[in-house]
Amino acid sequence: MELIVAHDRADLEKARSSGSVALVPTMGALHEGHRSLMRQARALAEQVVVSVFVNPLQFGPGEDFSRYPRTFDTDLDVCAEEGVDVVFAPSADDMYRPDRQVGVSAGEMGAIVEGAVRPGHFDGVLTVVLKLFNLVRPDVAVFGQKDAQQLALIRRMVADLDLPVEIVGAPTVREPDGLALSSRNRYLTTDDRRTALALSRALLAGAAESAPASVRAAATAELAASGLAVDYLVLVDPATFAEVPDSFSGQAVLAVAARVGTTRLIDNVLVTF
Ligand code: PAF
Repeated sequence: MELIVAHDRADLEKARSSGSVALVPTMGALHEGHRSLMRQARALAEQVVVSVFVNPLQFGPGEDFSRYPRTFDTDLDVCAEEGVDVVFAPSADDMYRPDRQVGVSAGEMGAIVEGAVRPGHFDGVLTVVLKLFNLVRPDVAVFGQKDAQQLALIRRMVADLDLPVEIVGAPTVREPDGLALSSRNRYLTTDDRRTALALSRALLAGAAESAPASVRAAATAELAASGLAVDYLVLVDPATFAEVPDSFSGQAVLAVAARVGTTRLIDNVLVTF
């Protein structure tokens, strides 16, 4: 089957199958991590729809909206290679009415950790994801665990708003040296990239420990030695993103965000106590 490219909601409606549909929402600049989401989606439904939309609503003032990598032709090649059925690539005008008023609020959970550094970011993410769910009407949607707080908030939105879609989280894909794949990695200079490896090293050092306090201490020590400008390092409940106590047992997320040169990177690992 040939890949269909839907540039607006009318094209999408024509291309949408009456069978089961899996959606992979992306902002393009597709890499191996996105390919793994597409493969998961392929196994879950008859039709796979990938959305490619750099969502202005989720970028704050001074963030990288205008320089965010846009590689649409290569993205289409990636989607064709992965057997995707439909690429939905709307314009901002097609997605957002000029007199738009109403959006999704990510609530208190959207204002902590990553949300404390990027106010309004998760409101923008949830608003576009809800719109994509309404337009594509997928049975299942696949998101990367790399954006762990985003994944948790999307699950929360689905539960709180009774959305008829199953959310699947897919593991983070890493370079052989540990760097988590991200569309923003292409901003990194060779030196930045070397420095950025401290993120995954810190997470690995933390994950090798067996109690919350020592996980935090080991990861903090590794970051302190790196010279990275760290925004946060937290050990949190994967569902709520609240910090876990030292007595915690169960699964937690060790999450980090730091700036390397002009690039901001996030990463996380799951740790079980
Ligand atoms: O993870 C992303 O690429 C974006 O936040 C998403 C989910 C496509 C919404 O714009």
